[in-house]
Amino acid sequence: MGKHRILILGGTTEARQLAAALAQRGNYDSLLSLAGRTAEPMAQPVPTRSGGFGGSDGLAEFLKIENFDLLIDATHPFAARISHNAAIAADQTGIPLFALRRSAWQREPTDSWTSVHSVADAVAALGTTPSRVFLAIGRQEAFHFESAPQHSYLIRSVDPVTPRLDIPYAHYLLATGPFEEAAERGLLIENRIEVIVAKNSGGGATYGKIAAARALGLAVIMVERQQPADVRTVETVKDALGLVDHLFSPEMKRGV
Ligand SMILES: NC(=O)c1ccc[n+]([C@@H]2O[C@H](COP(=O)([O-])OP(=O)(O)OC[C@H]3O[C@@H](n4cnc5c(N)ncnc54)[C@H](OP(=O)(O)O)[C@@H]3O)[C@@H](O)[C@H]2O)c1
Repeated sequence: MGKHRILILGGTTEARQLAAALAQRGNYDSLLSLAGRTAEPMAQPVPTRSGGFGGSDGLAEFLKIENFDLLIDATHPFAARISHNAAIAADQTGIPLFALRRSAWQREPTDSWTSVHSVADAVAALGTTPSRVFLAIGRQEAFHFESAPQHSYLIRSVDPVTPRLDIPYAHYLLATGPFEEAAERGLLIENRIEVIVAKNSGGGATYGKIAAARALGLAVIMVERQQPADVRTVETVKDALGLVDHLFSPEMKRGV
């Protein structure tokens, strides 16, 4: 019997871990898809492809031509467009889909969070009084902060923000997580940060700044996730692996 073909939409640590775990199983033939945005992507444990599919139709076409049996959306919780496209393509083709999406961080009693629904709303939430801001939202949406040039920004991203923001006070920092709490605390103190703008990504790799903000009593403007499409979702690699095994189990094939 041939191996089951699985397309994993990735760009996250969890996608990489799931691909590695599936490769170890031996009975799955996985392809990991990356958007192709990162200049030097991490090494991956299975074959990869890179770049967009050309919308949901392109993805549906790719799934059919390449004979995939399962689509797993293991993209970042803020990668809304590809997740939306995945749901449509799965509907169109009848190929099963589930999402692997880590749970969101929860506010603790001593946290000082202002929750907003978009990066644009985060800009407004900073207010008019000049502040020292740590921007930890990635490079793609940093441009929104050009409309609030009164603040002074420390902007951290994996790849450079290009073009540079048209604002007078910006310091750029290139770094790839995971980021430990102690180092994050040091960074916040050293740069005399007053407020952090973060996406509620969930997971441990970037939680250090949230824990550090709590310890230092700093405000966090938290960009919350949009409501995802109505797609079956698991939160851990272990559960994703279990679901894959279940979906390809002999019982499922017999429709039991
Ligand atoms: N957004 C974040 O904060 C964030 C953080 C960390 C990692 N990432 C990762 O970075 C990638 C891009 O994120 P984004 O927010 O720009 O996504 P997005 O806005 O949801 O997607 C924009 C377009 O990029 C292409 N694309 C995205 N992910 C892809 C994938 N895994 N494989 C092939 N094509 C993909 C698709 O193009 P077509 O329509 O042409 O198919 C999609 O329509 C994702 O893989 C995501 O997991 C995102």
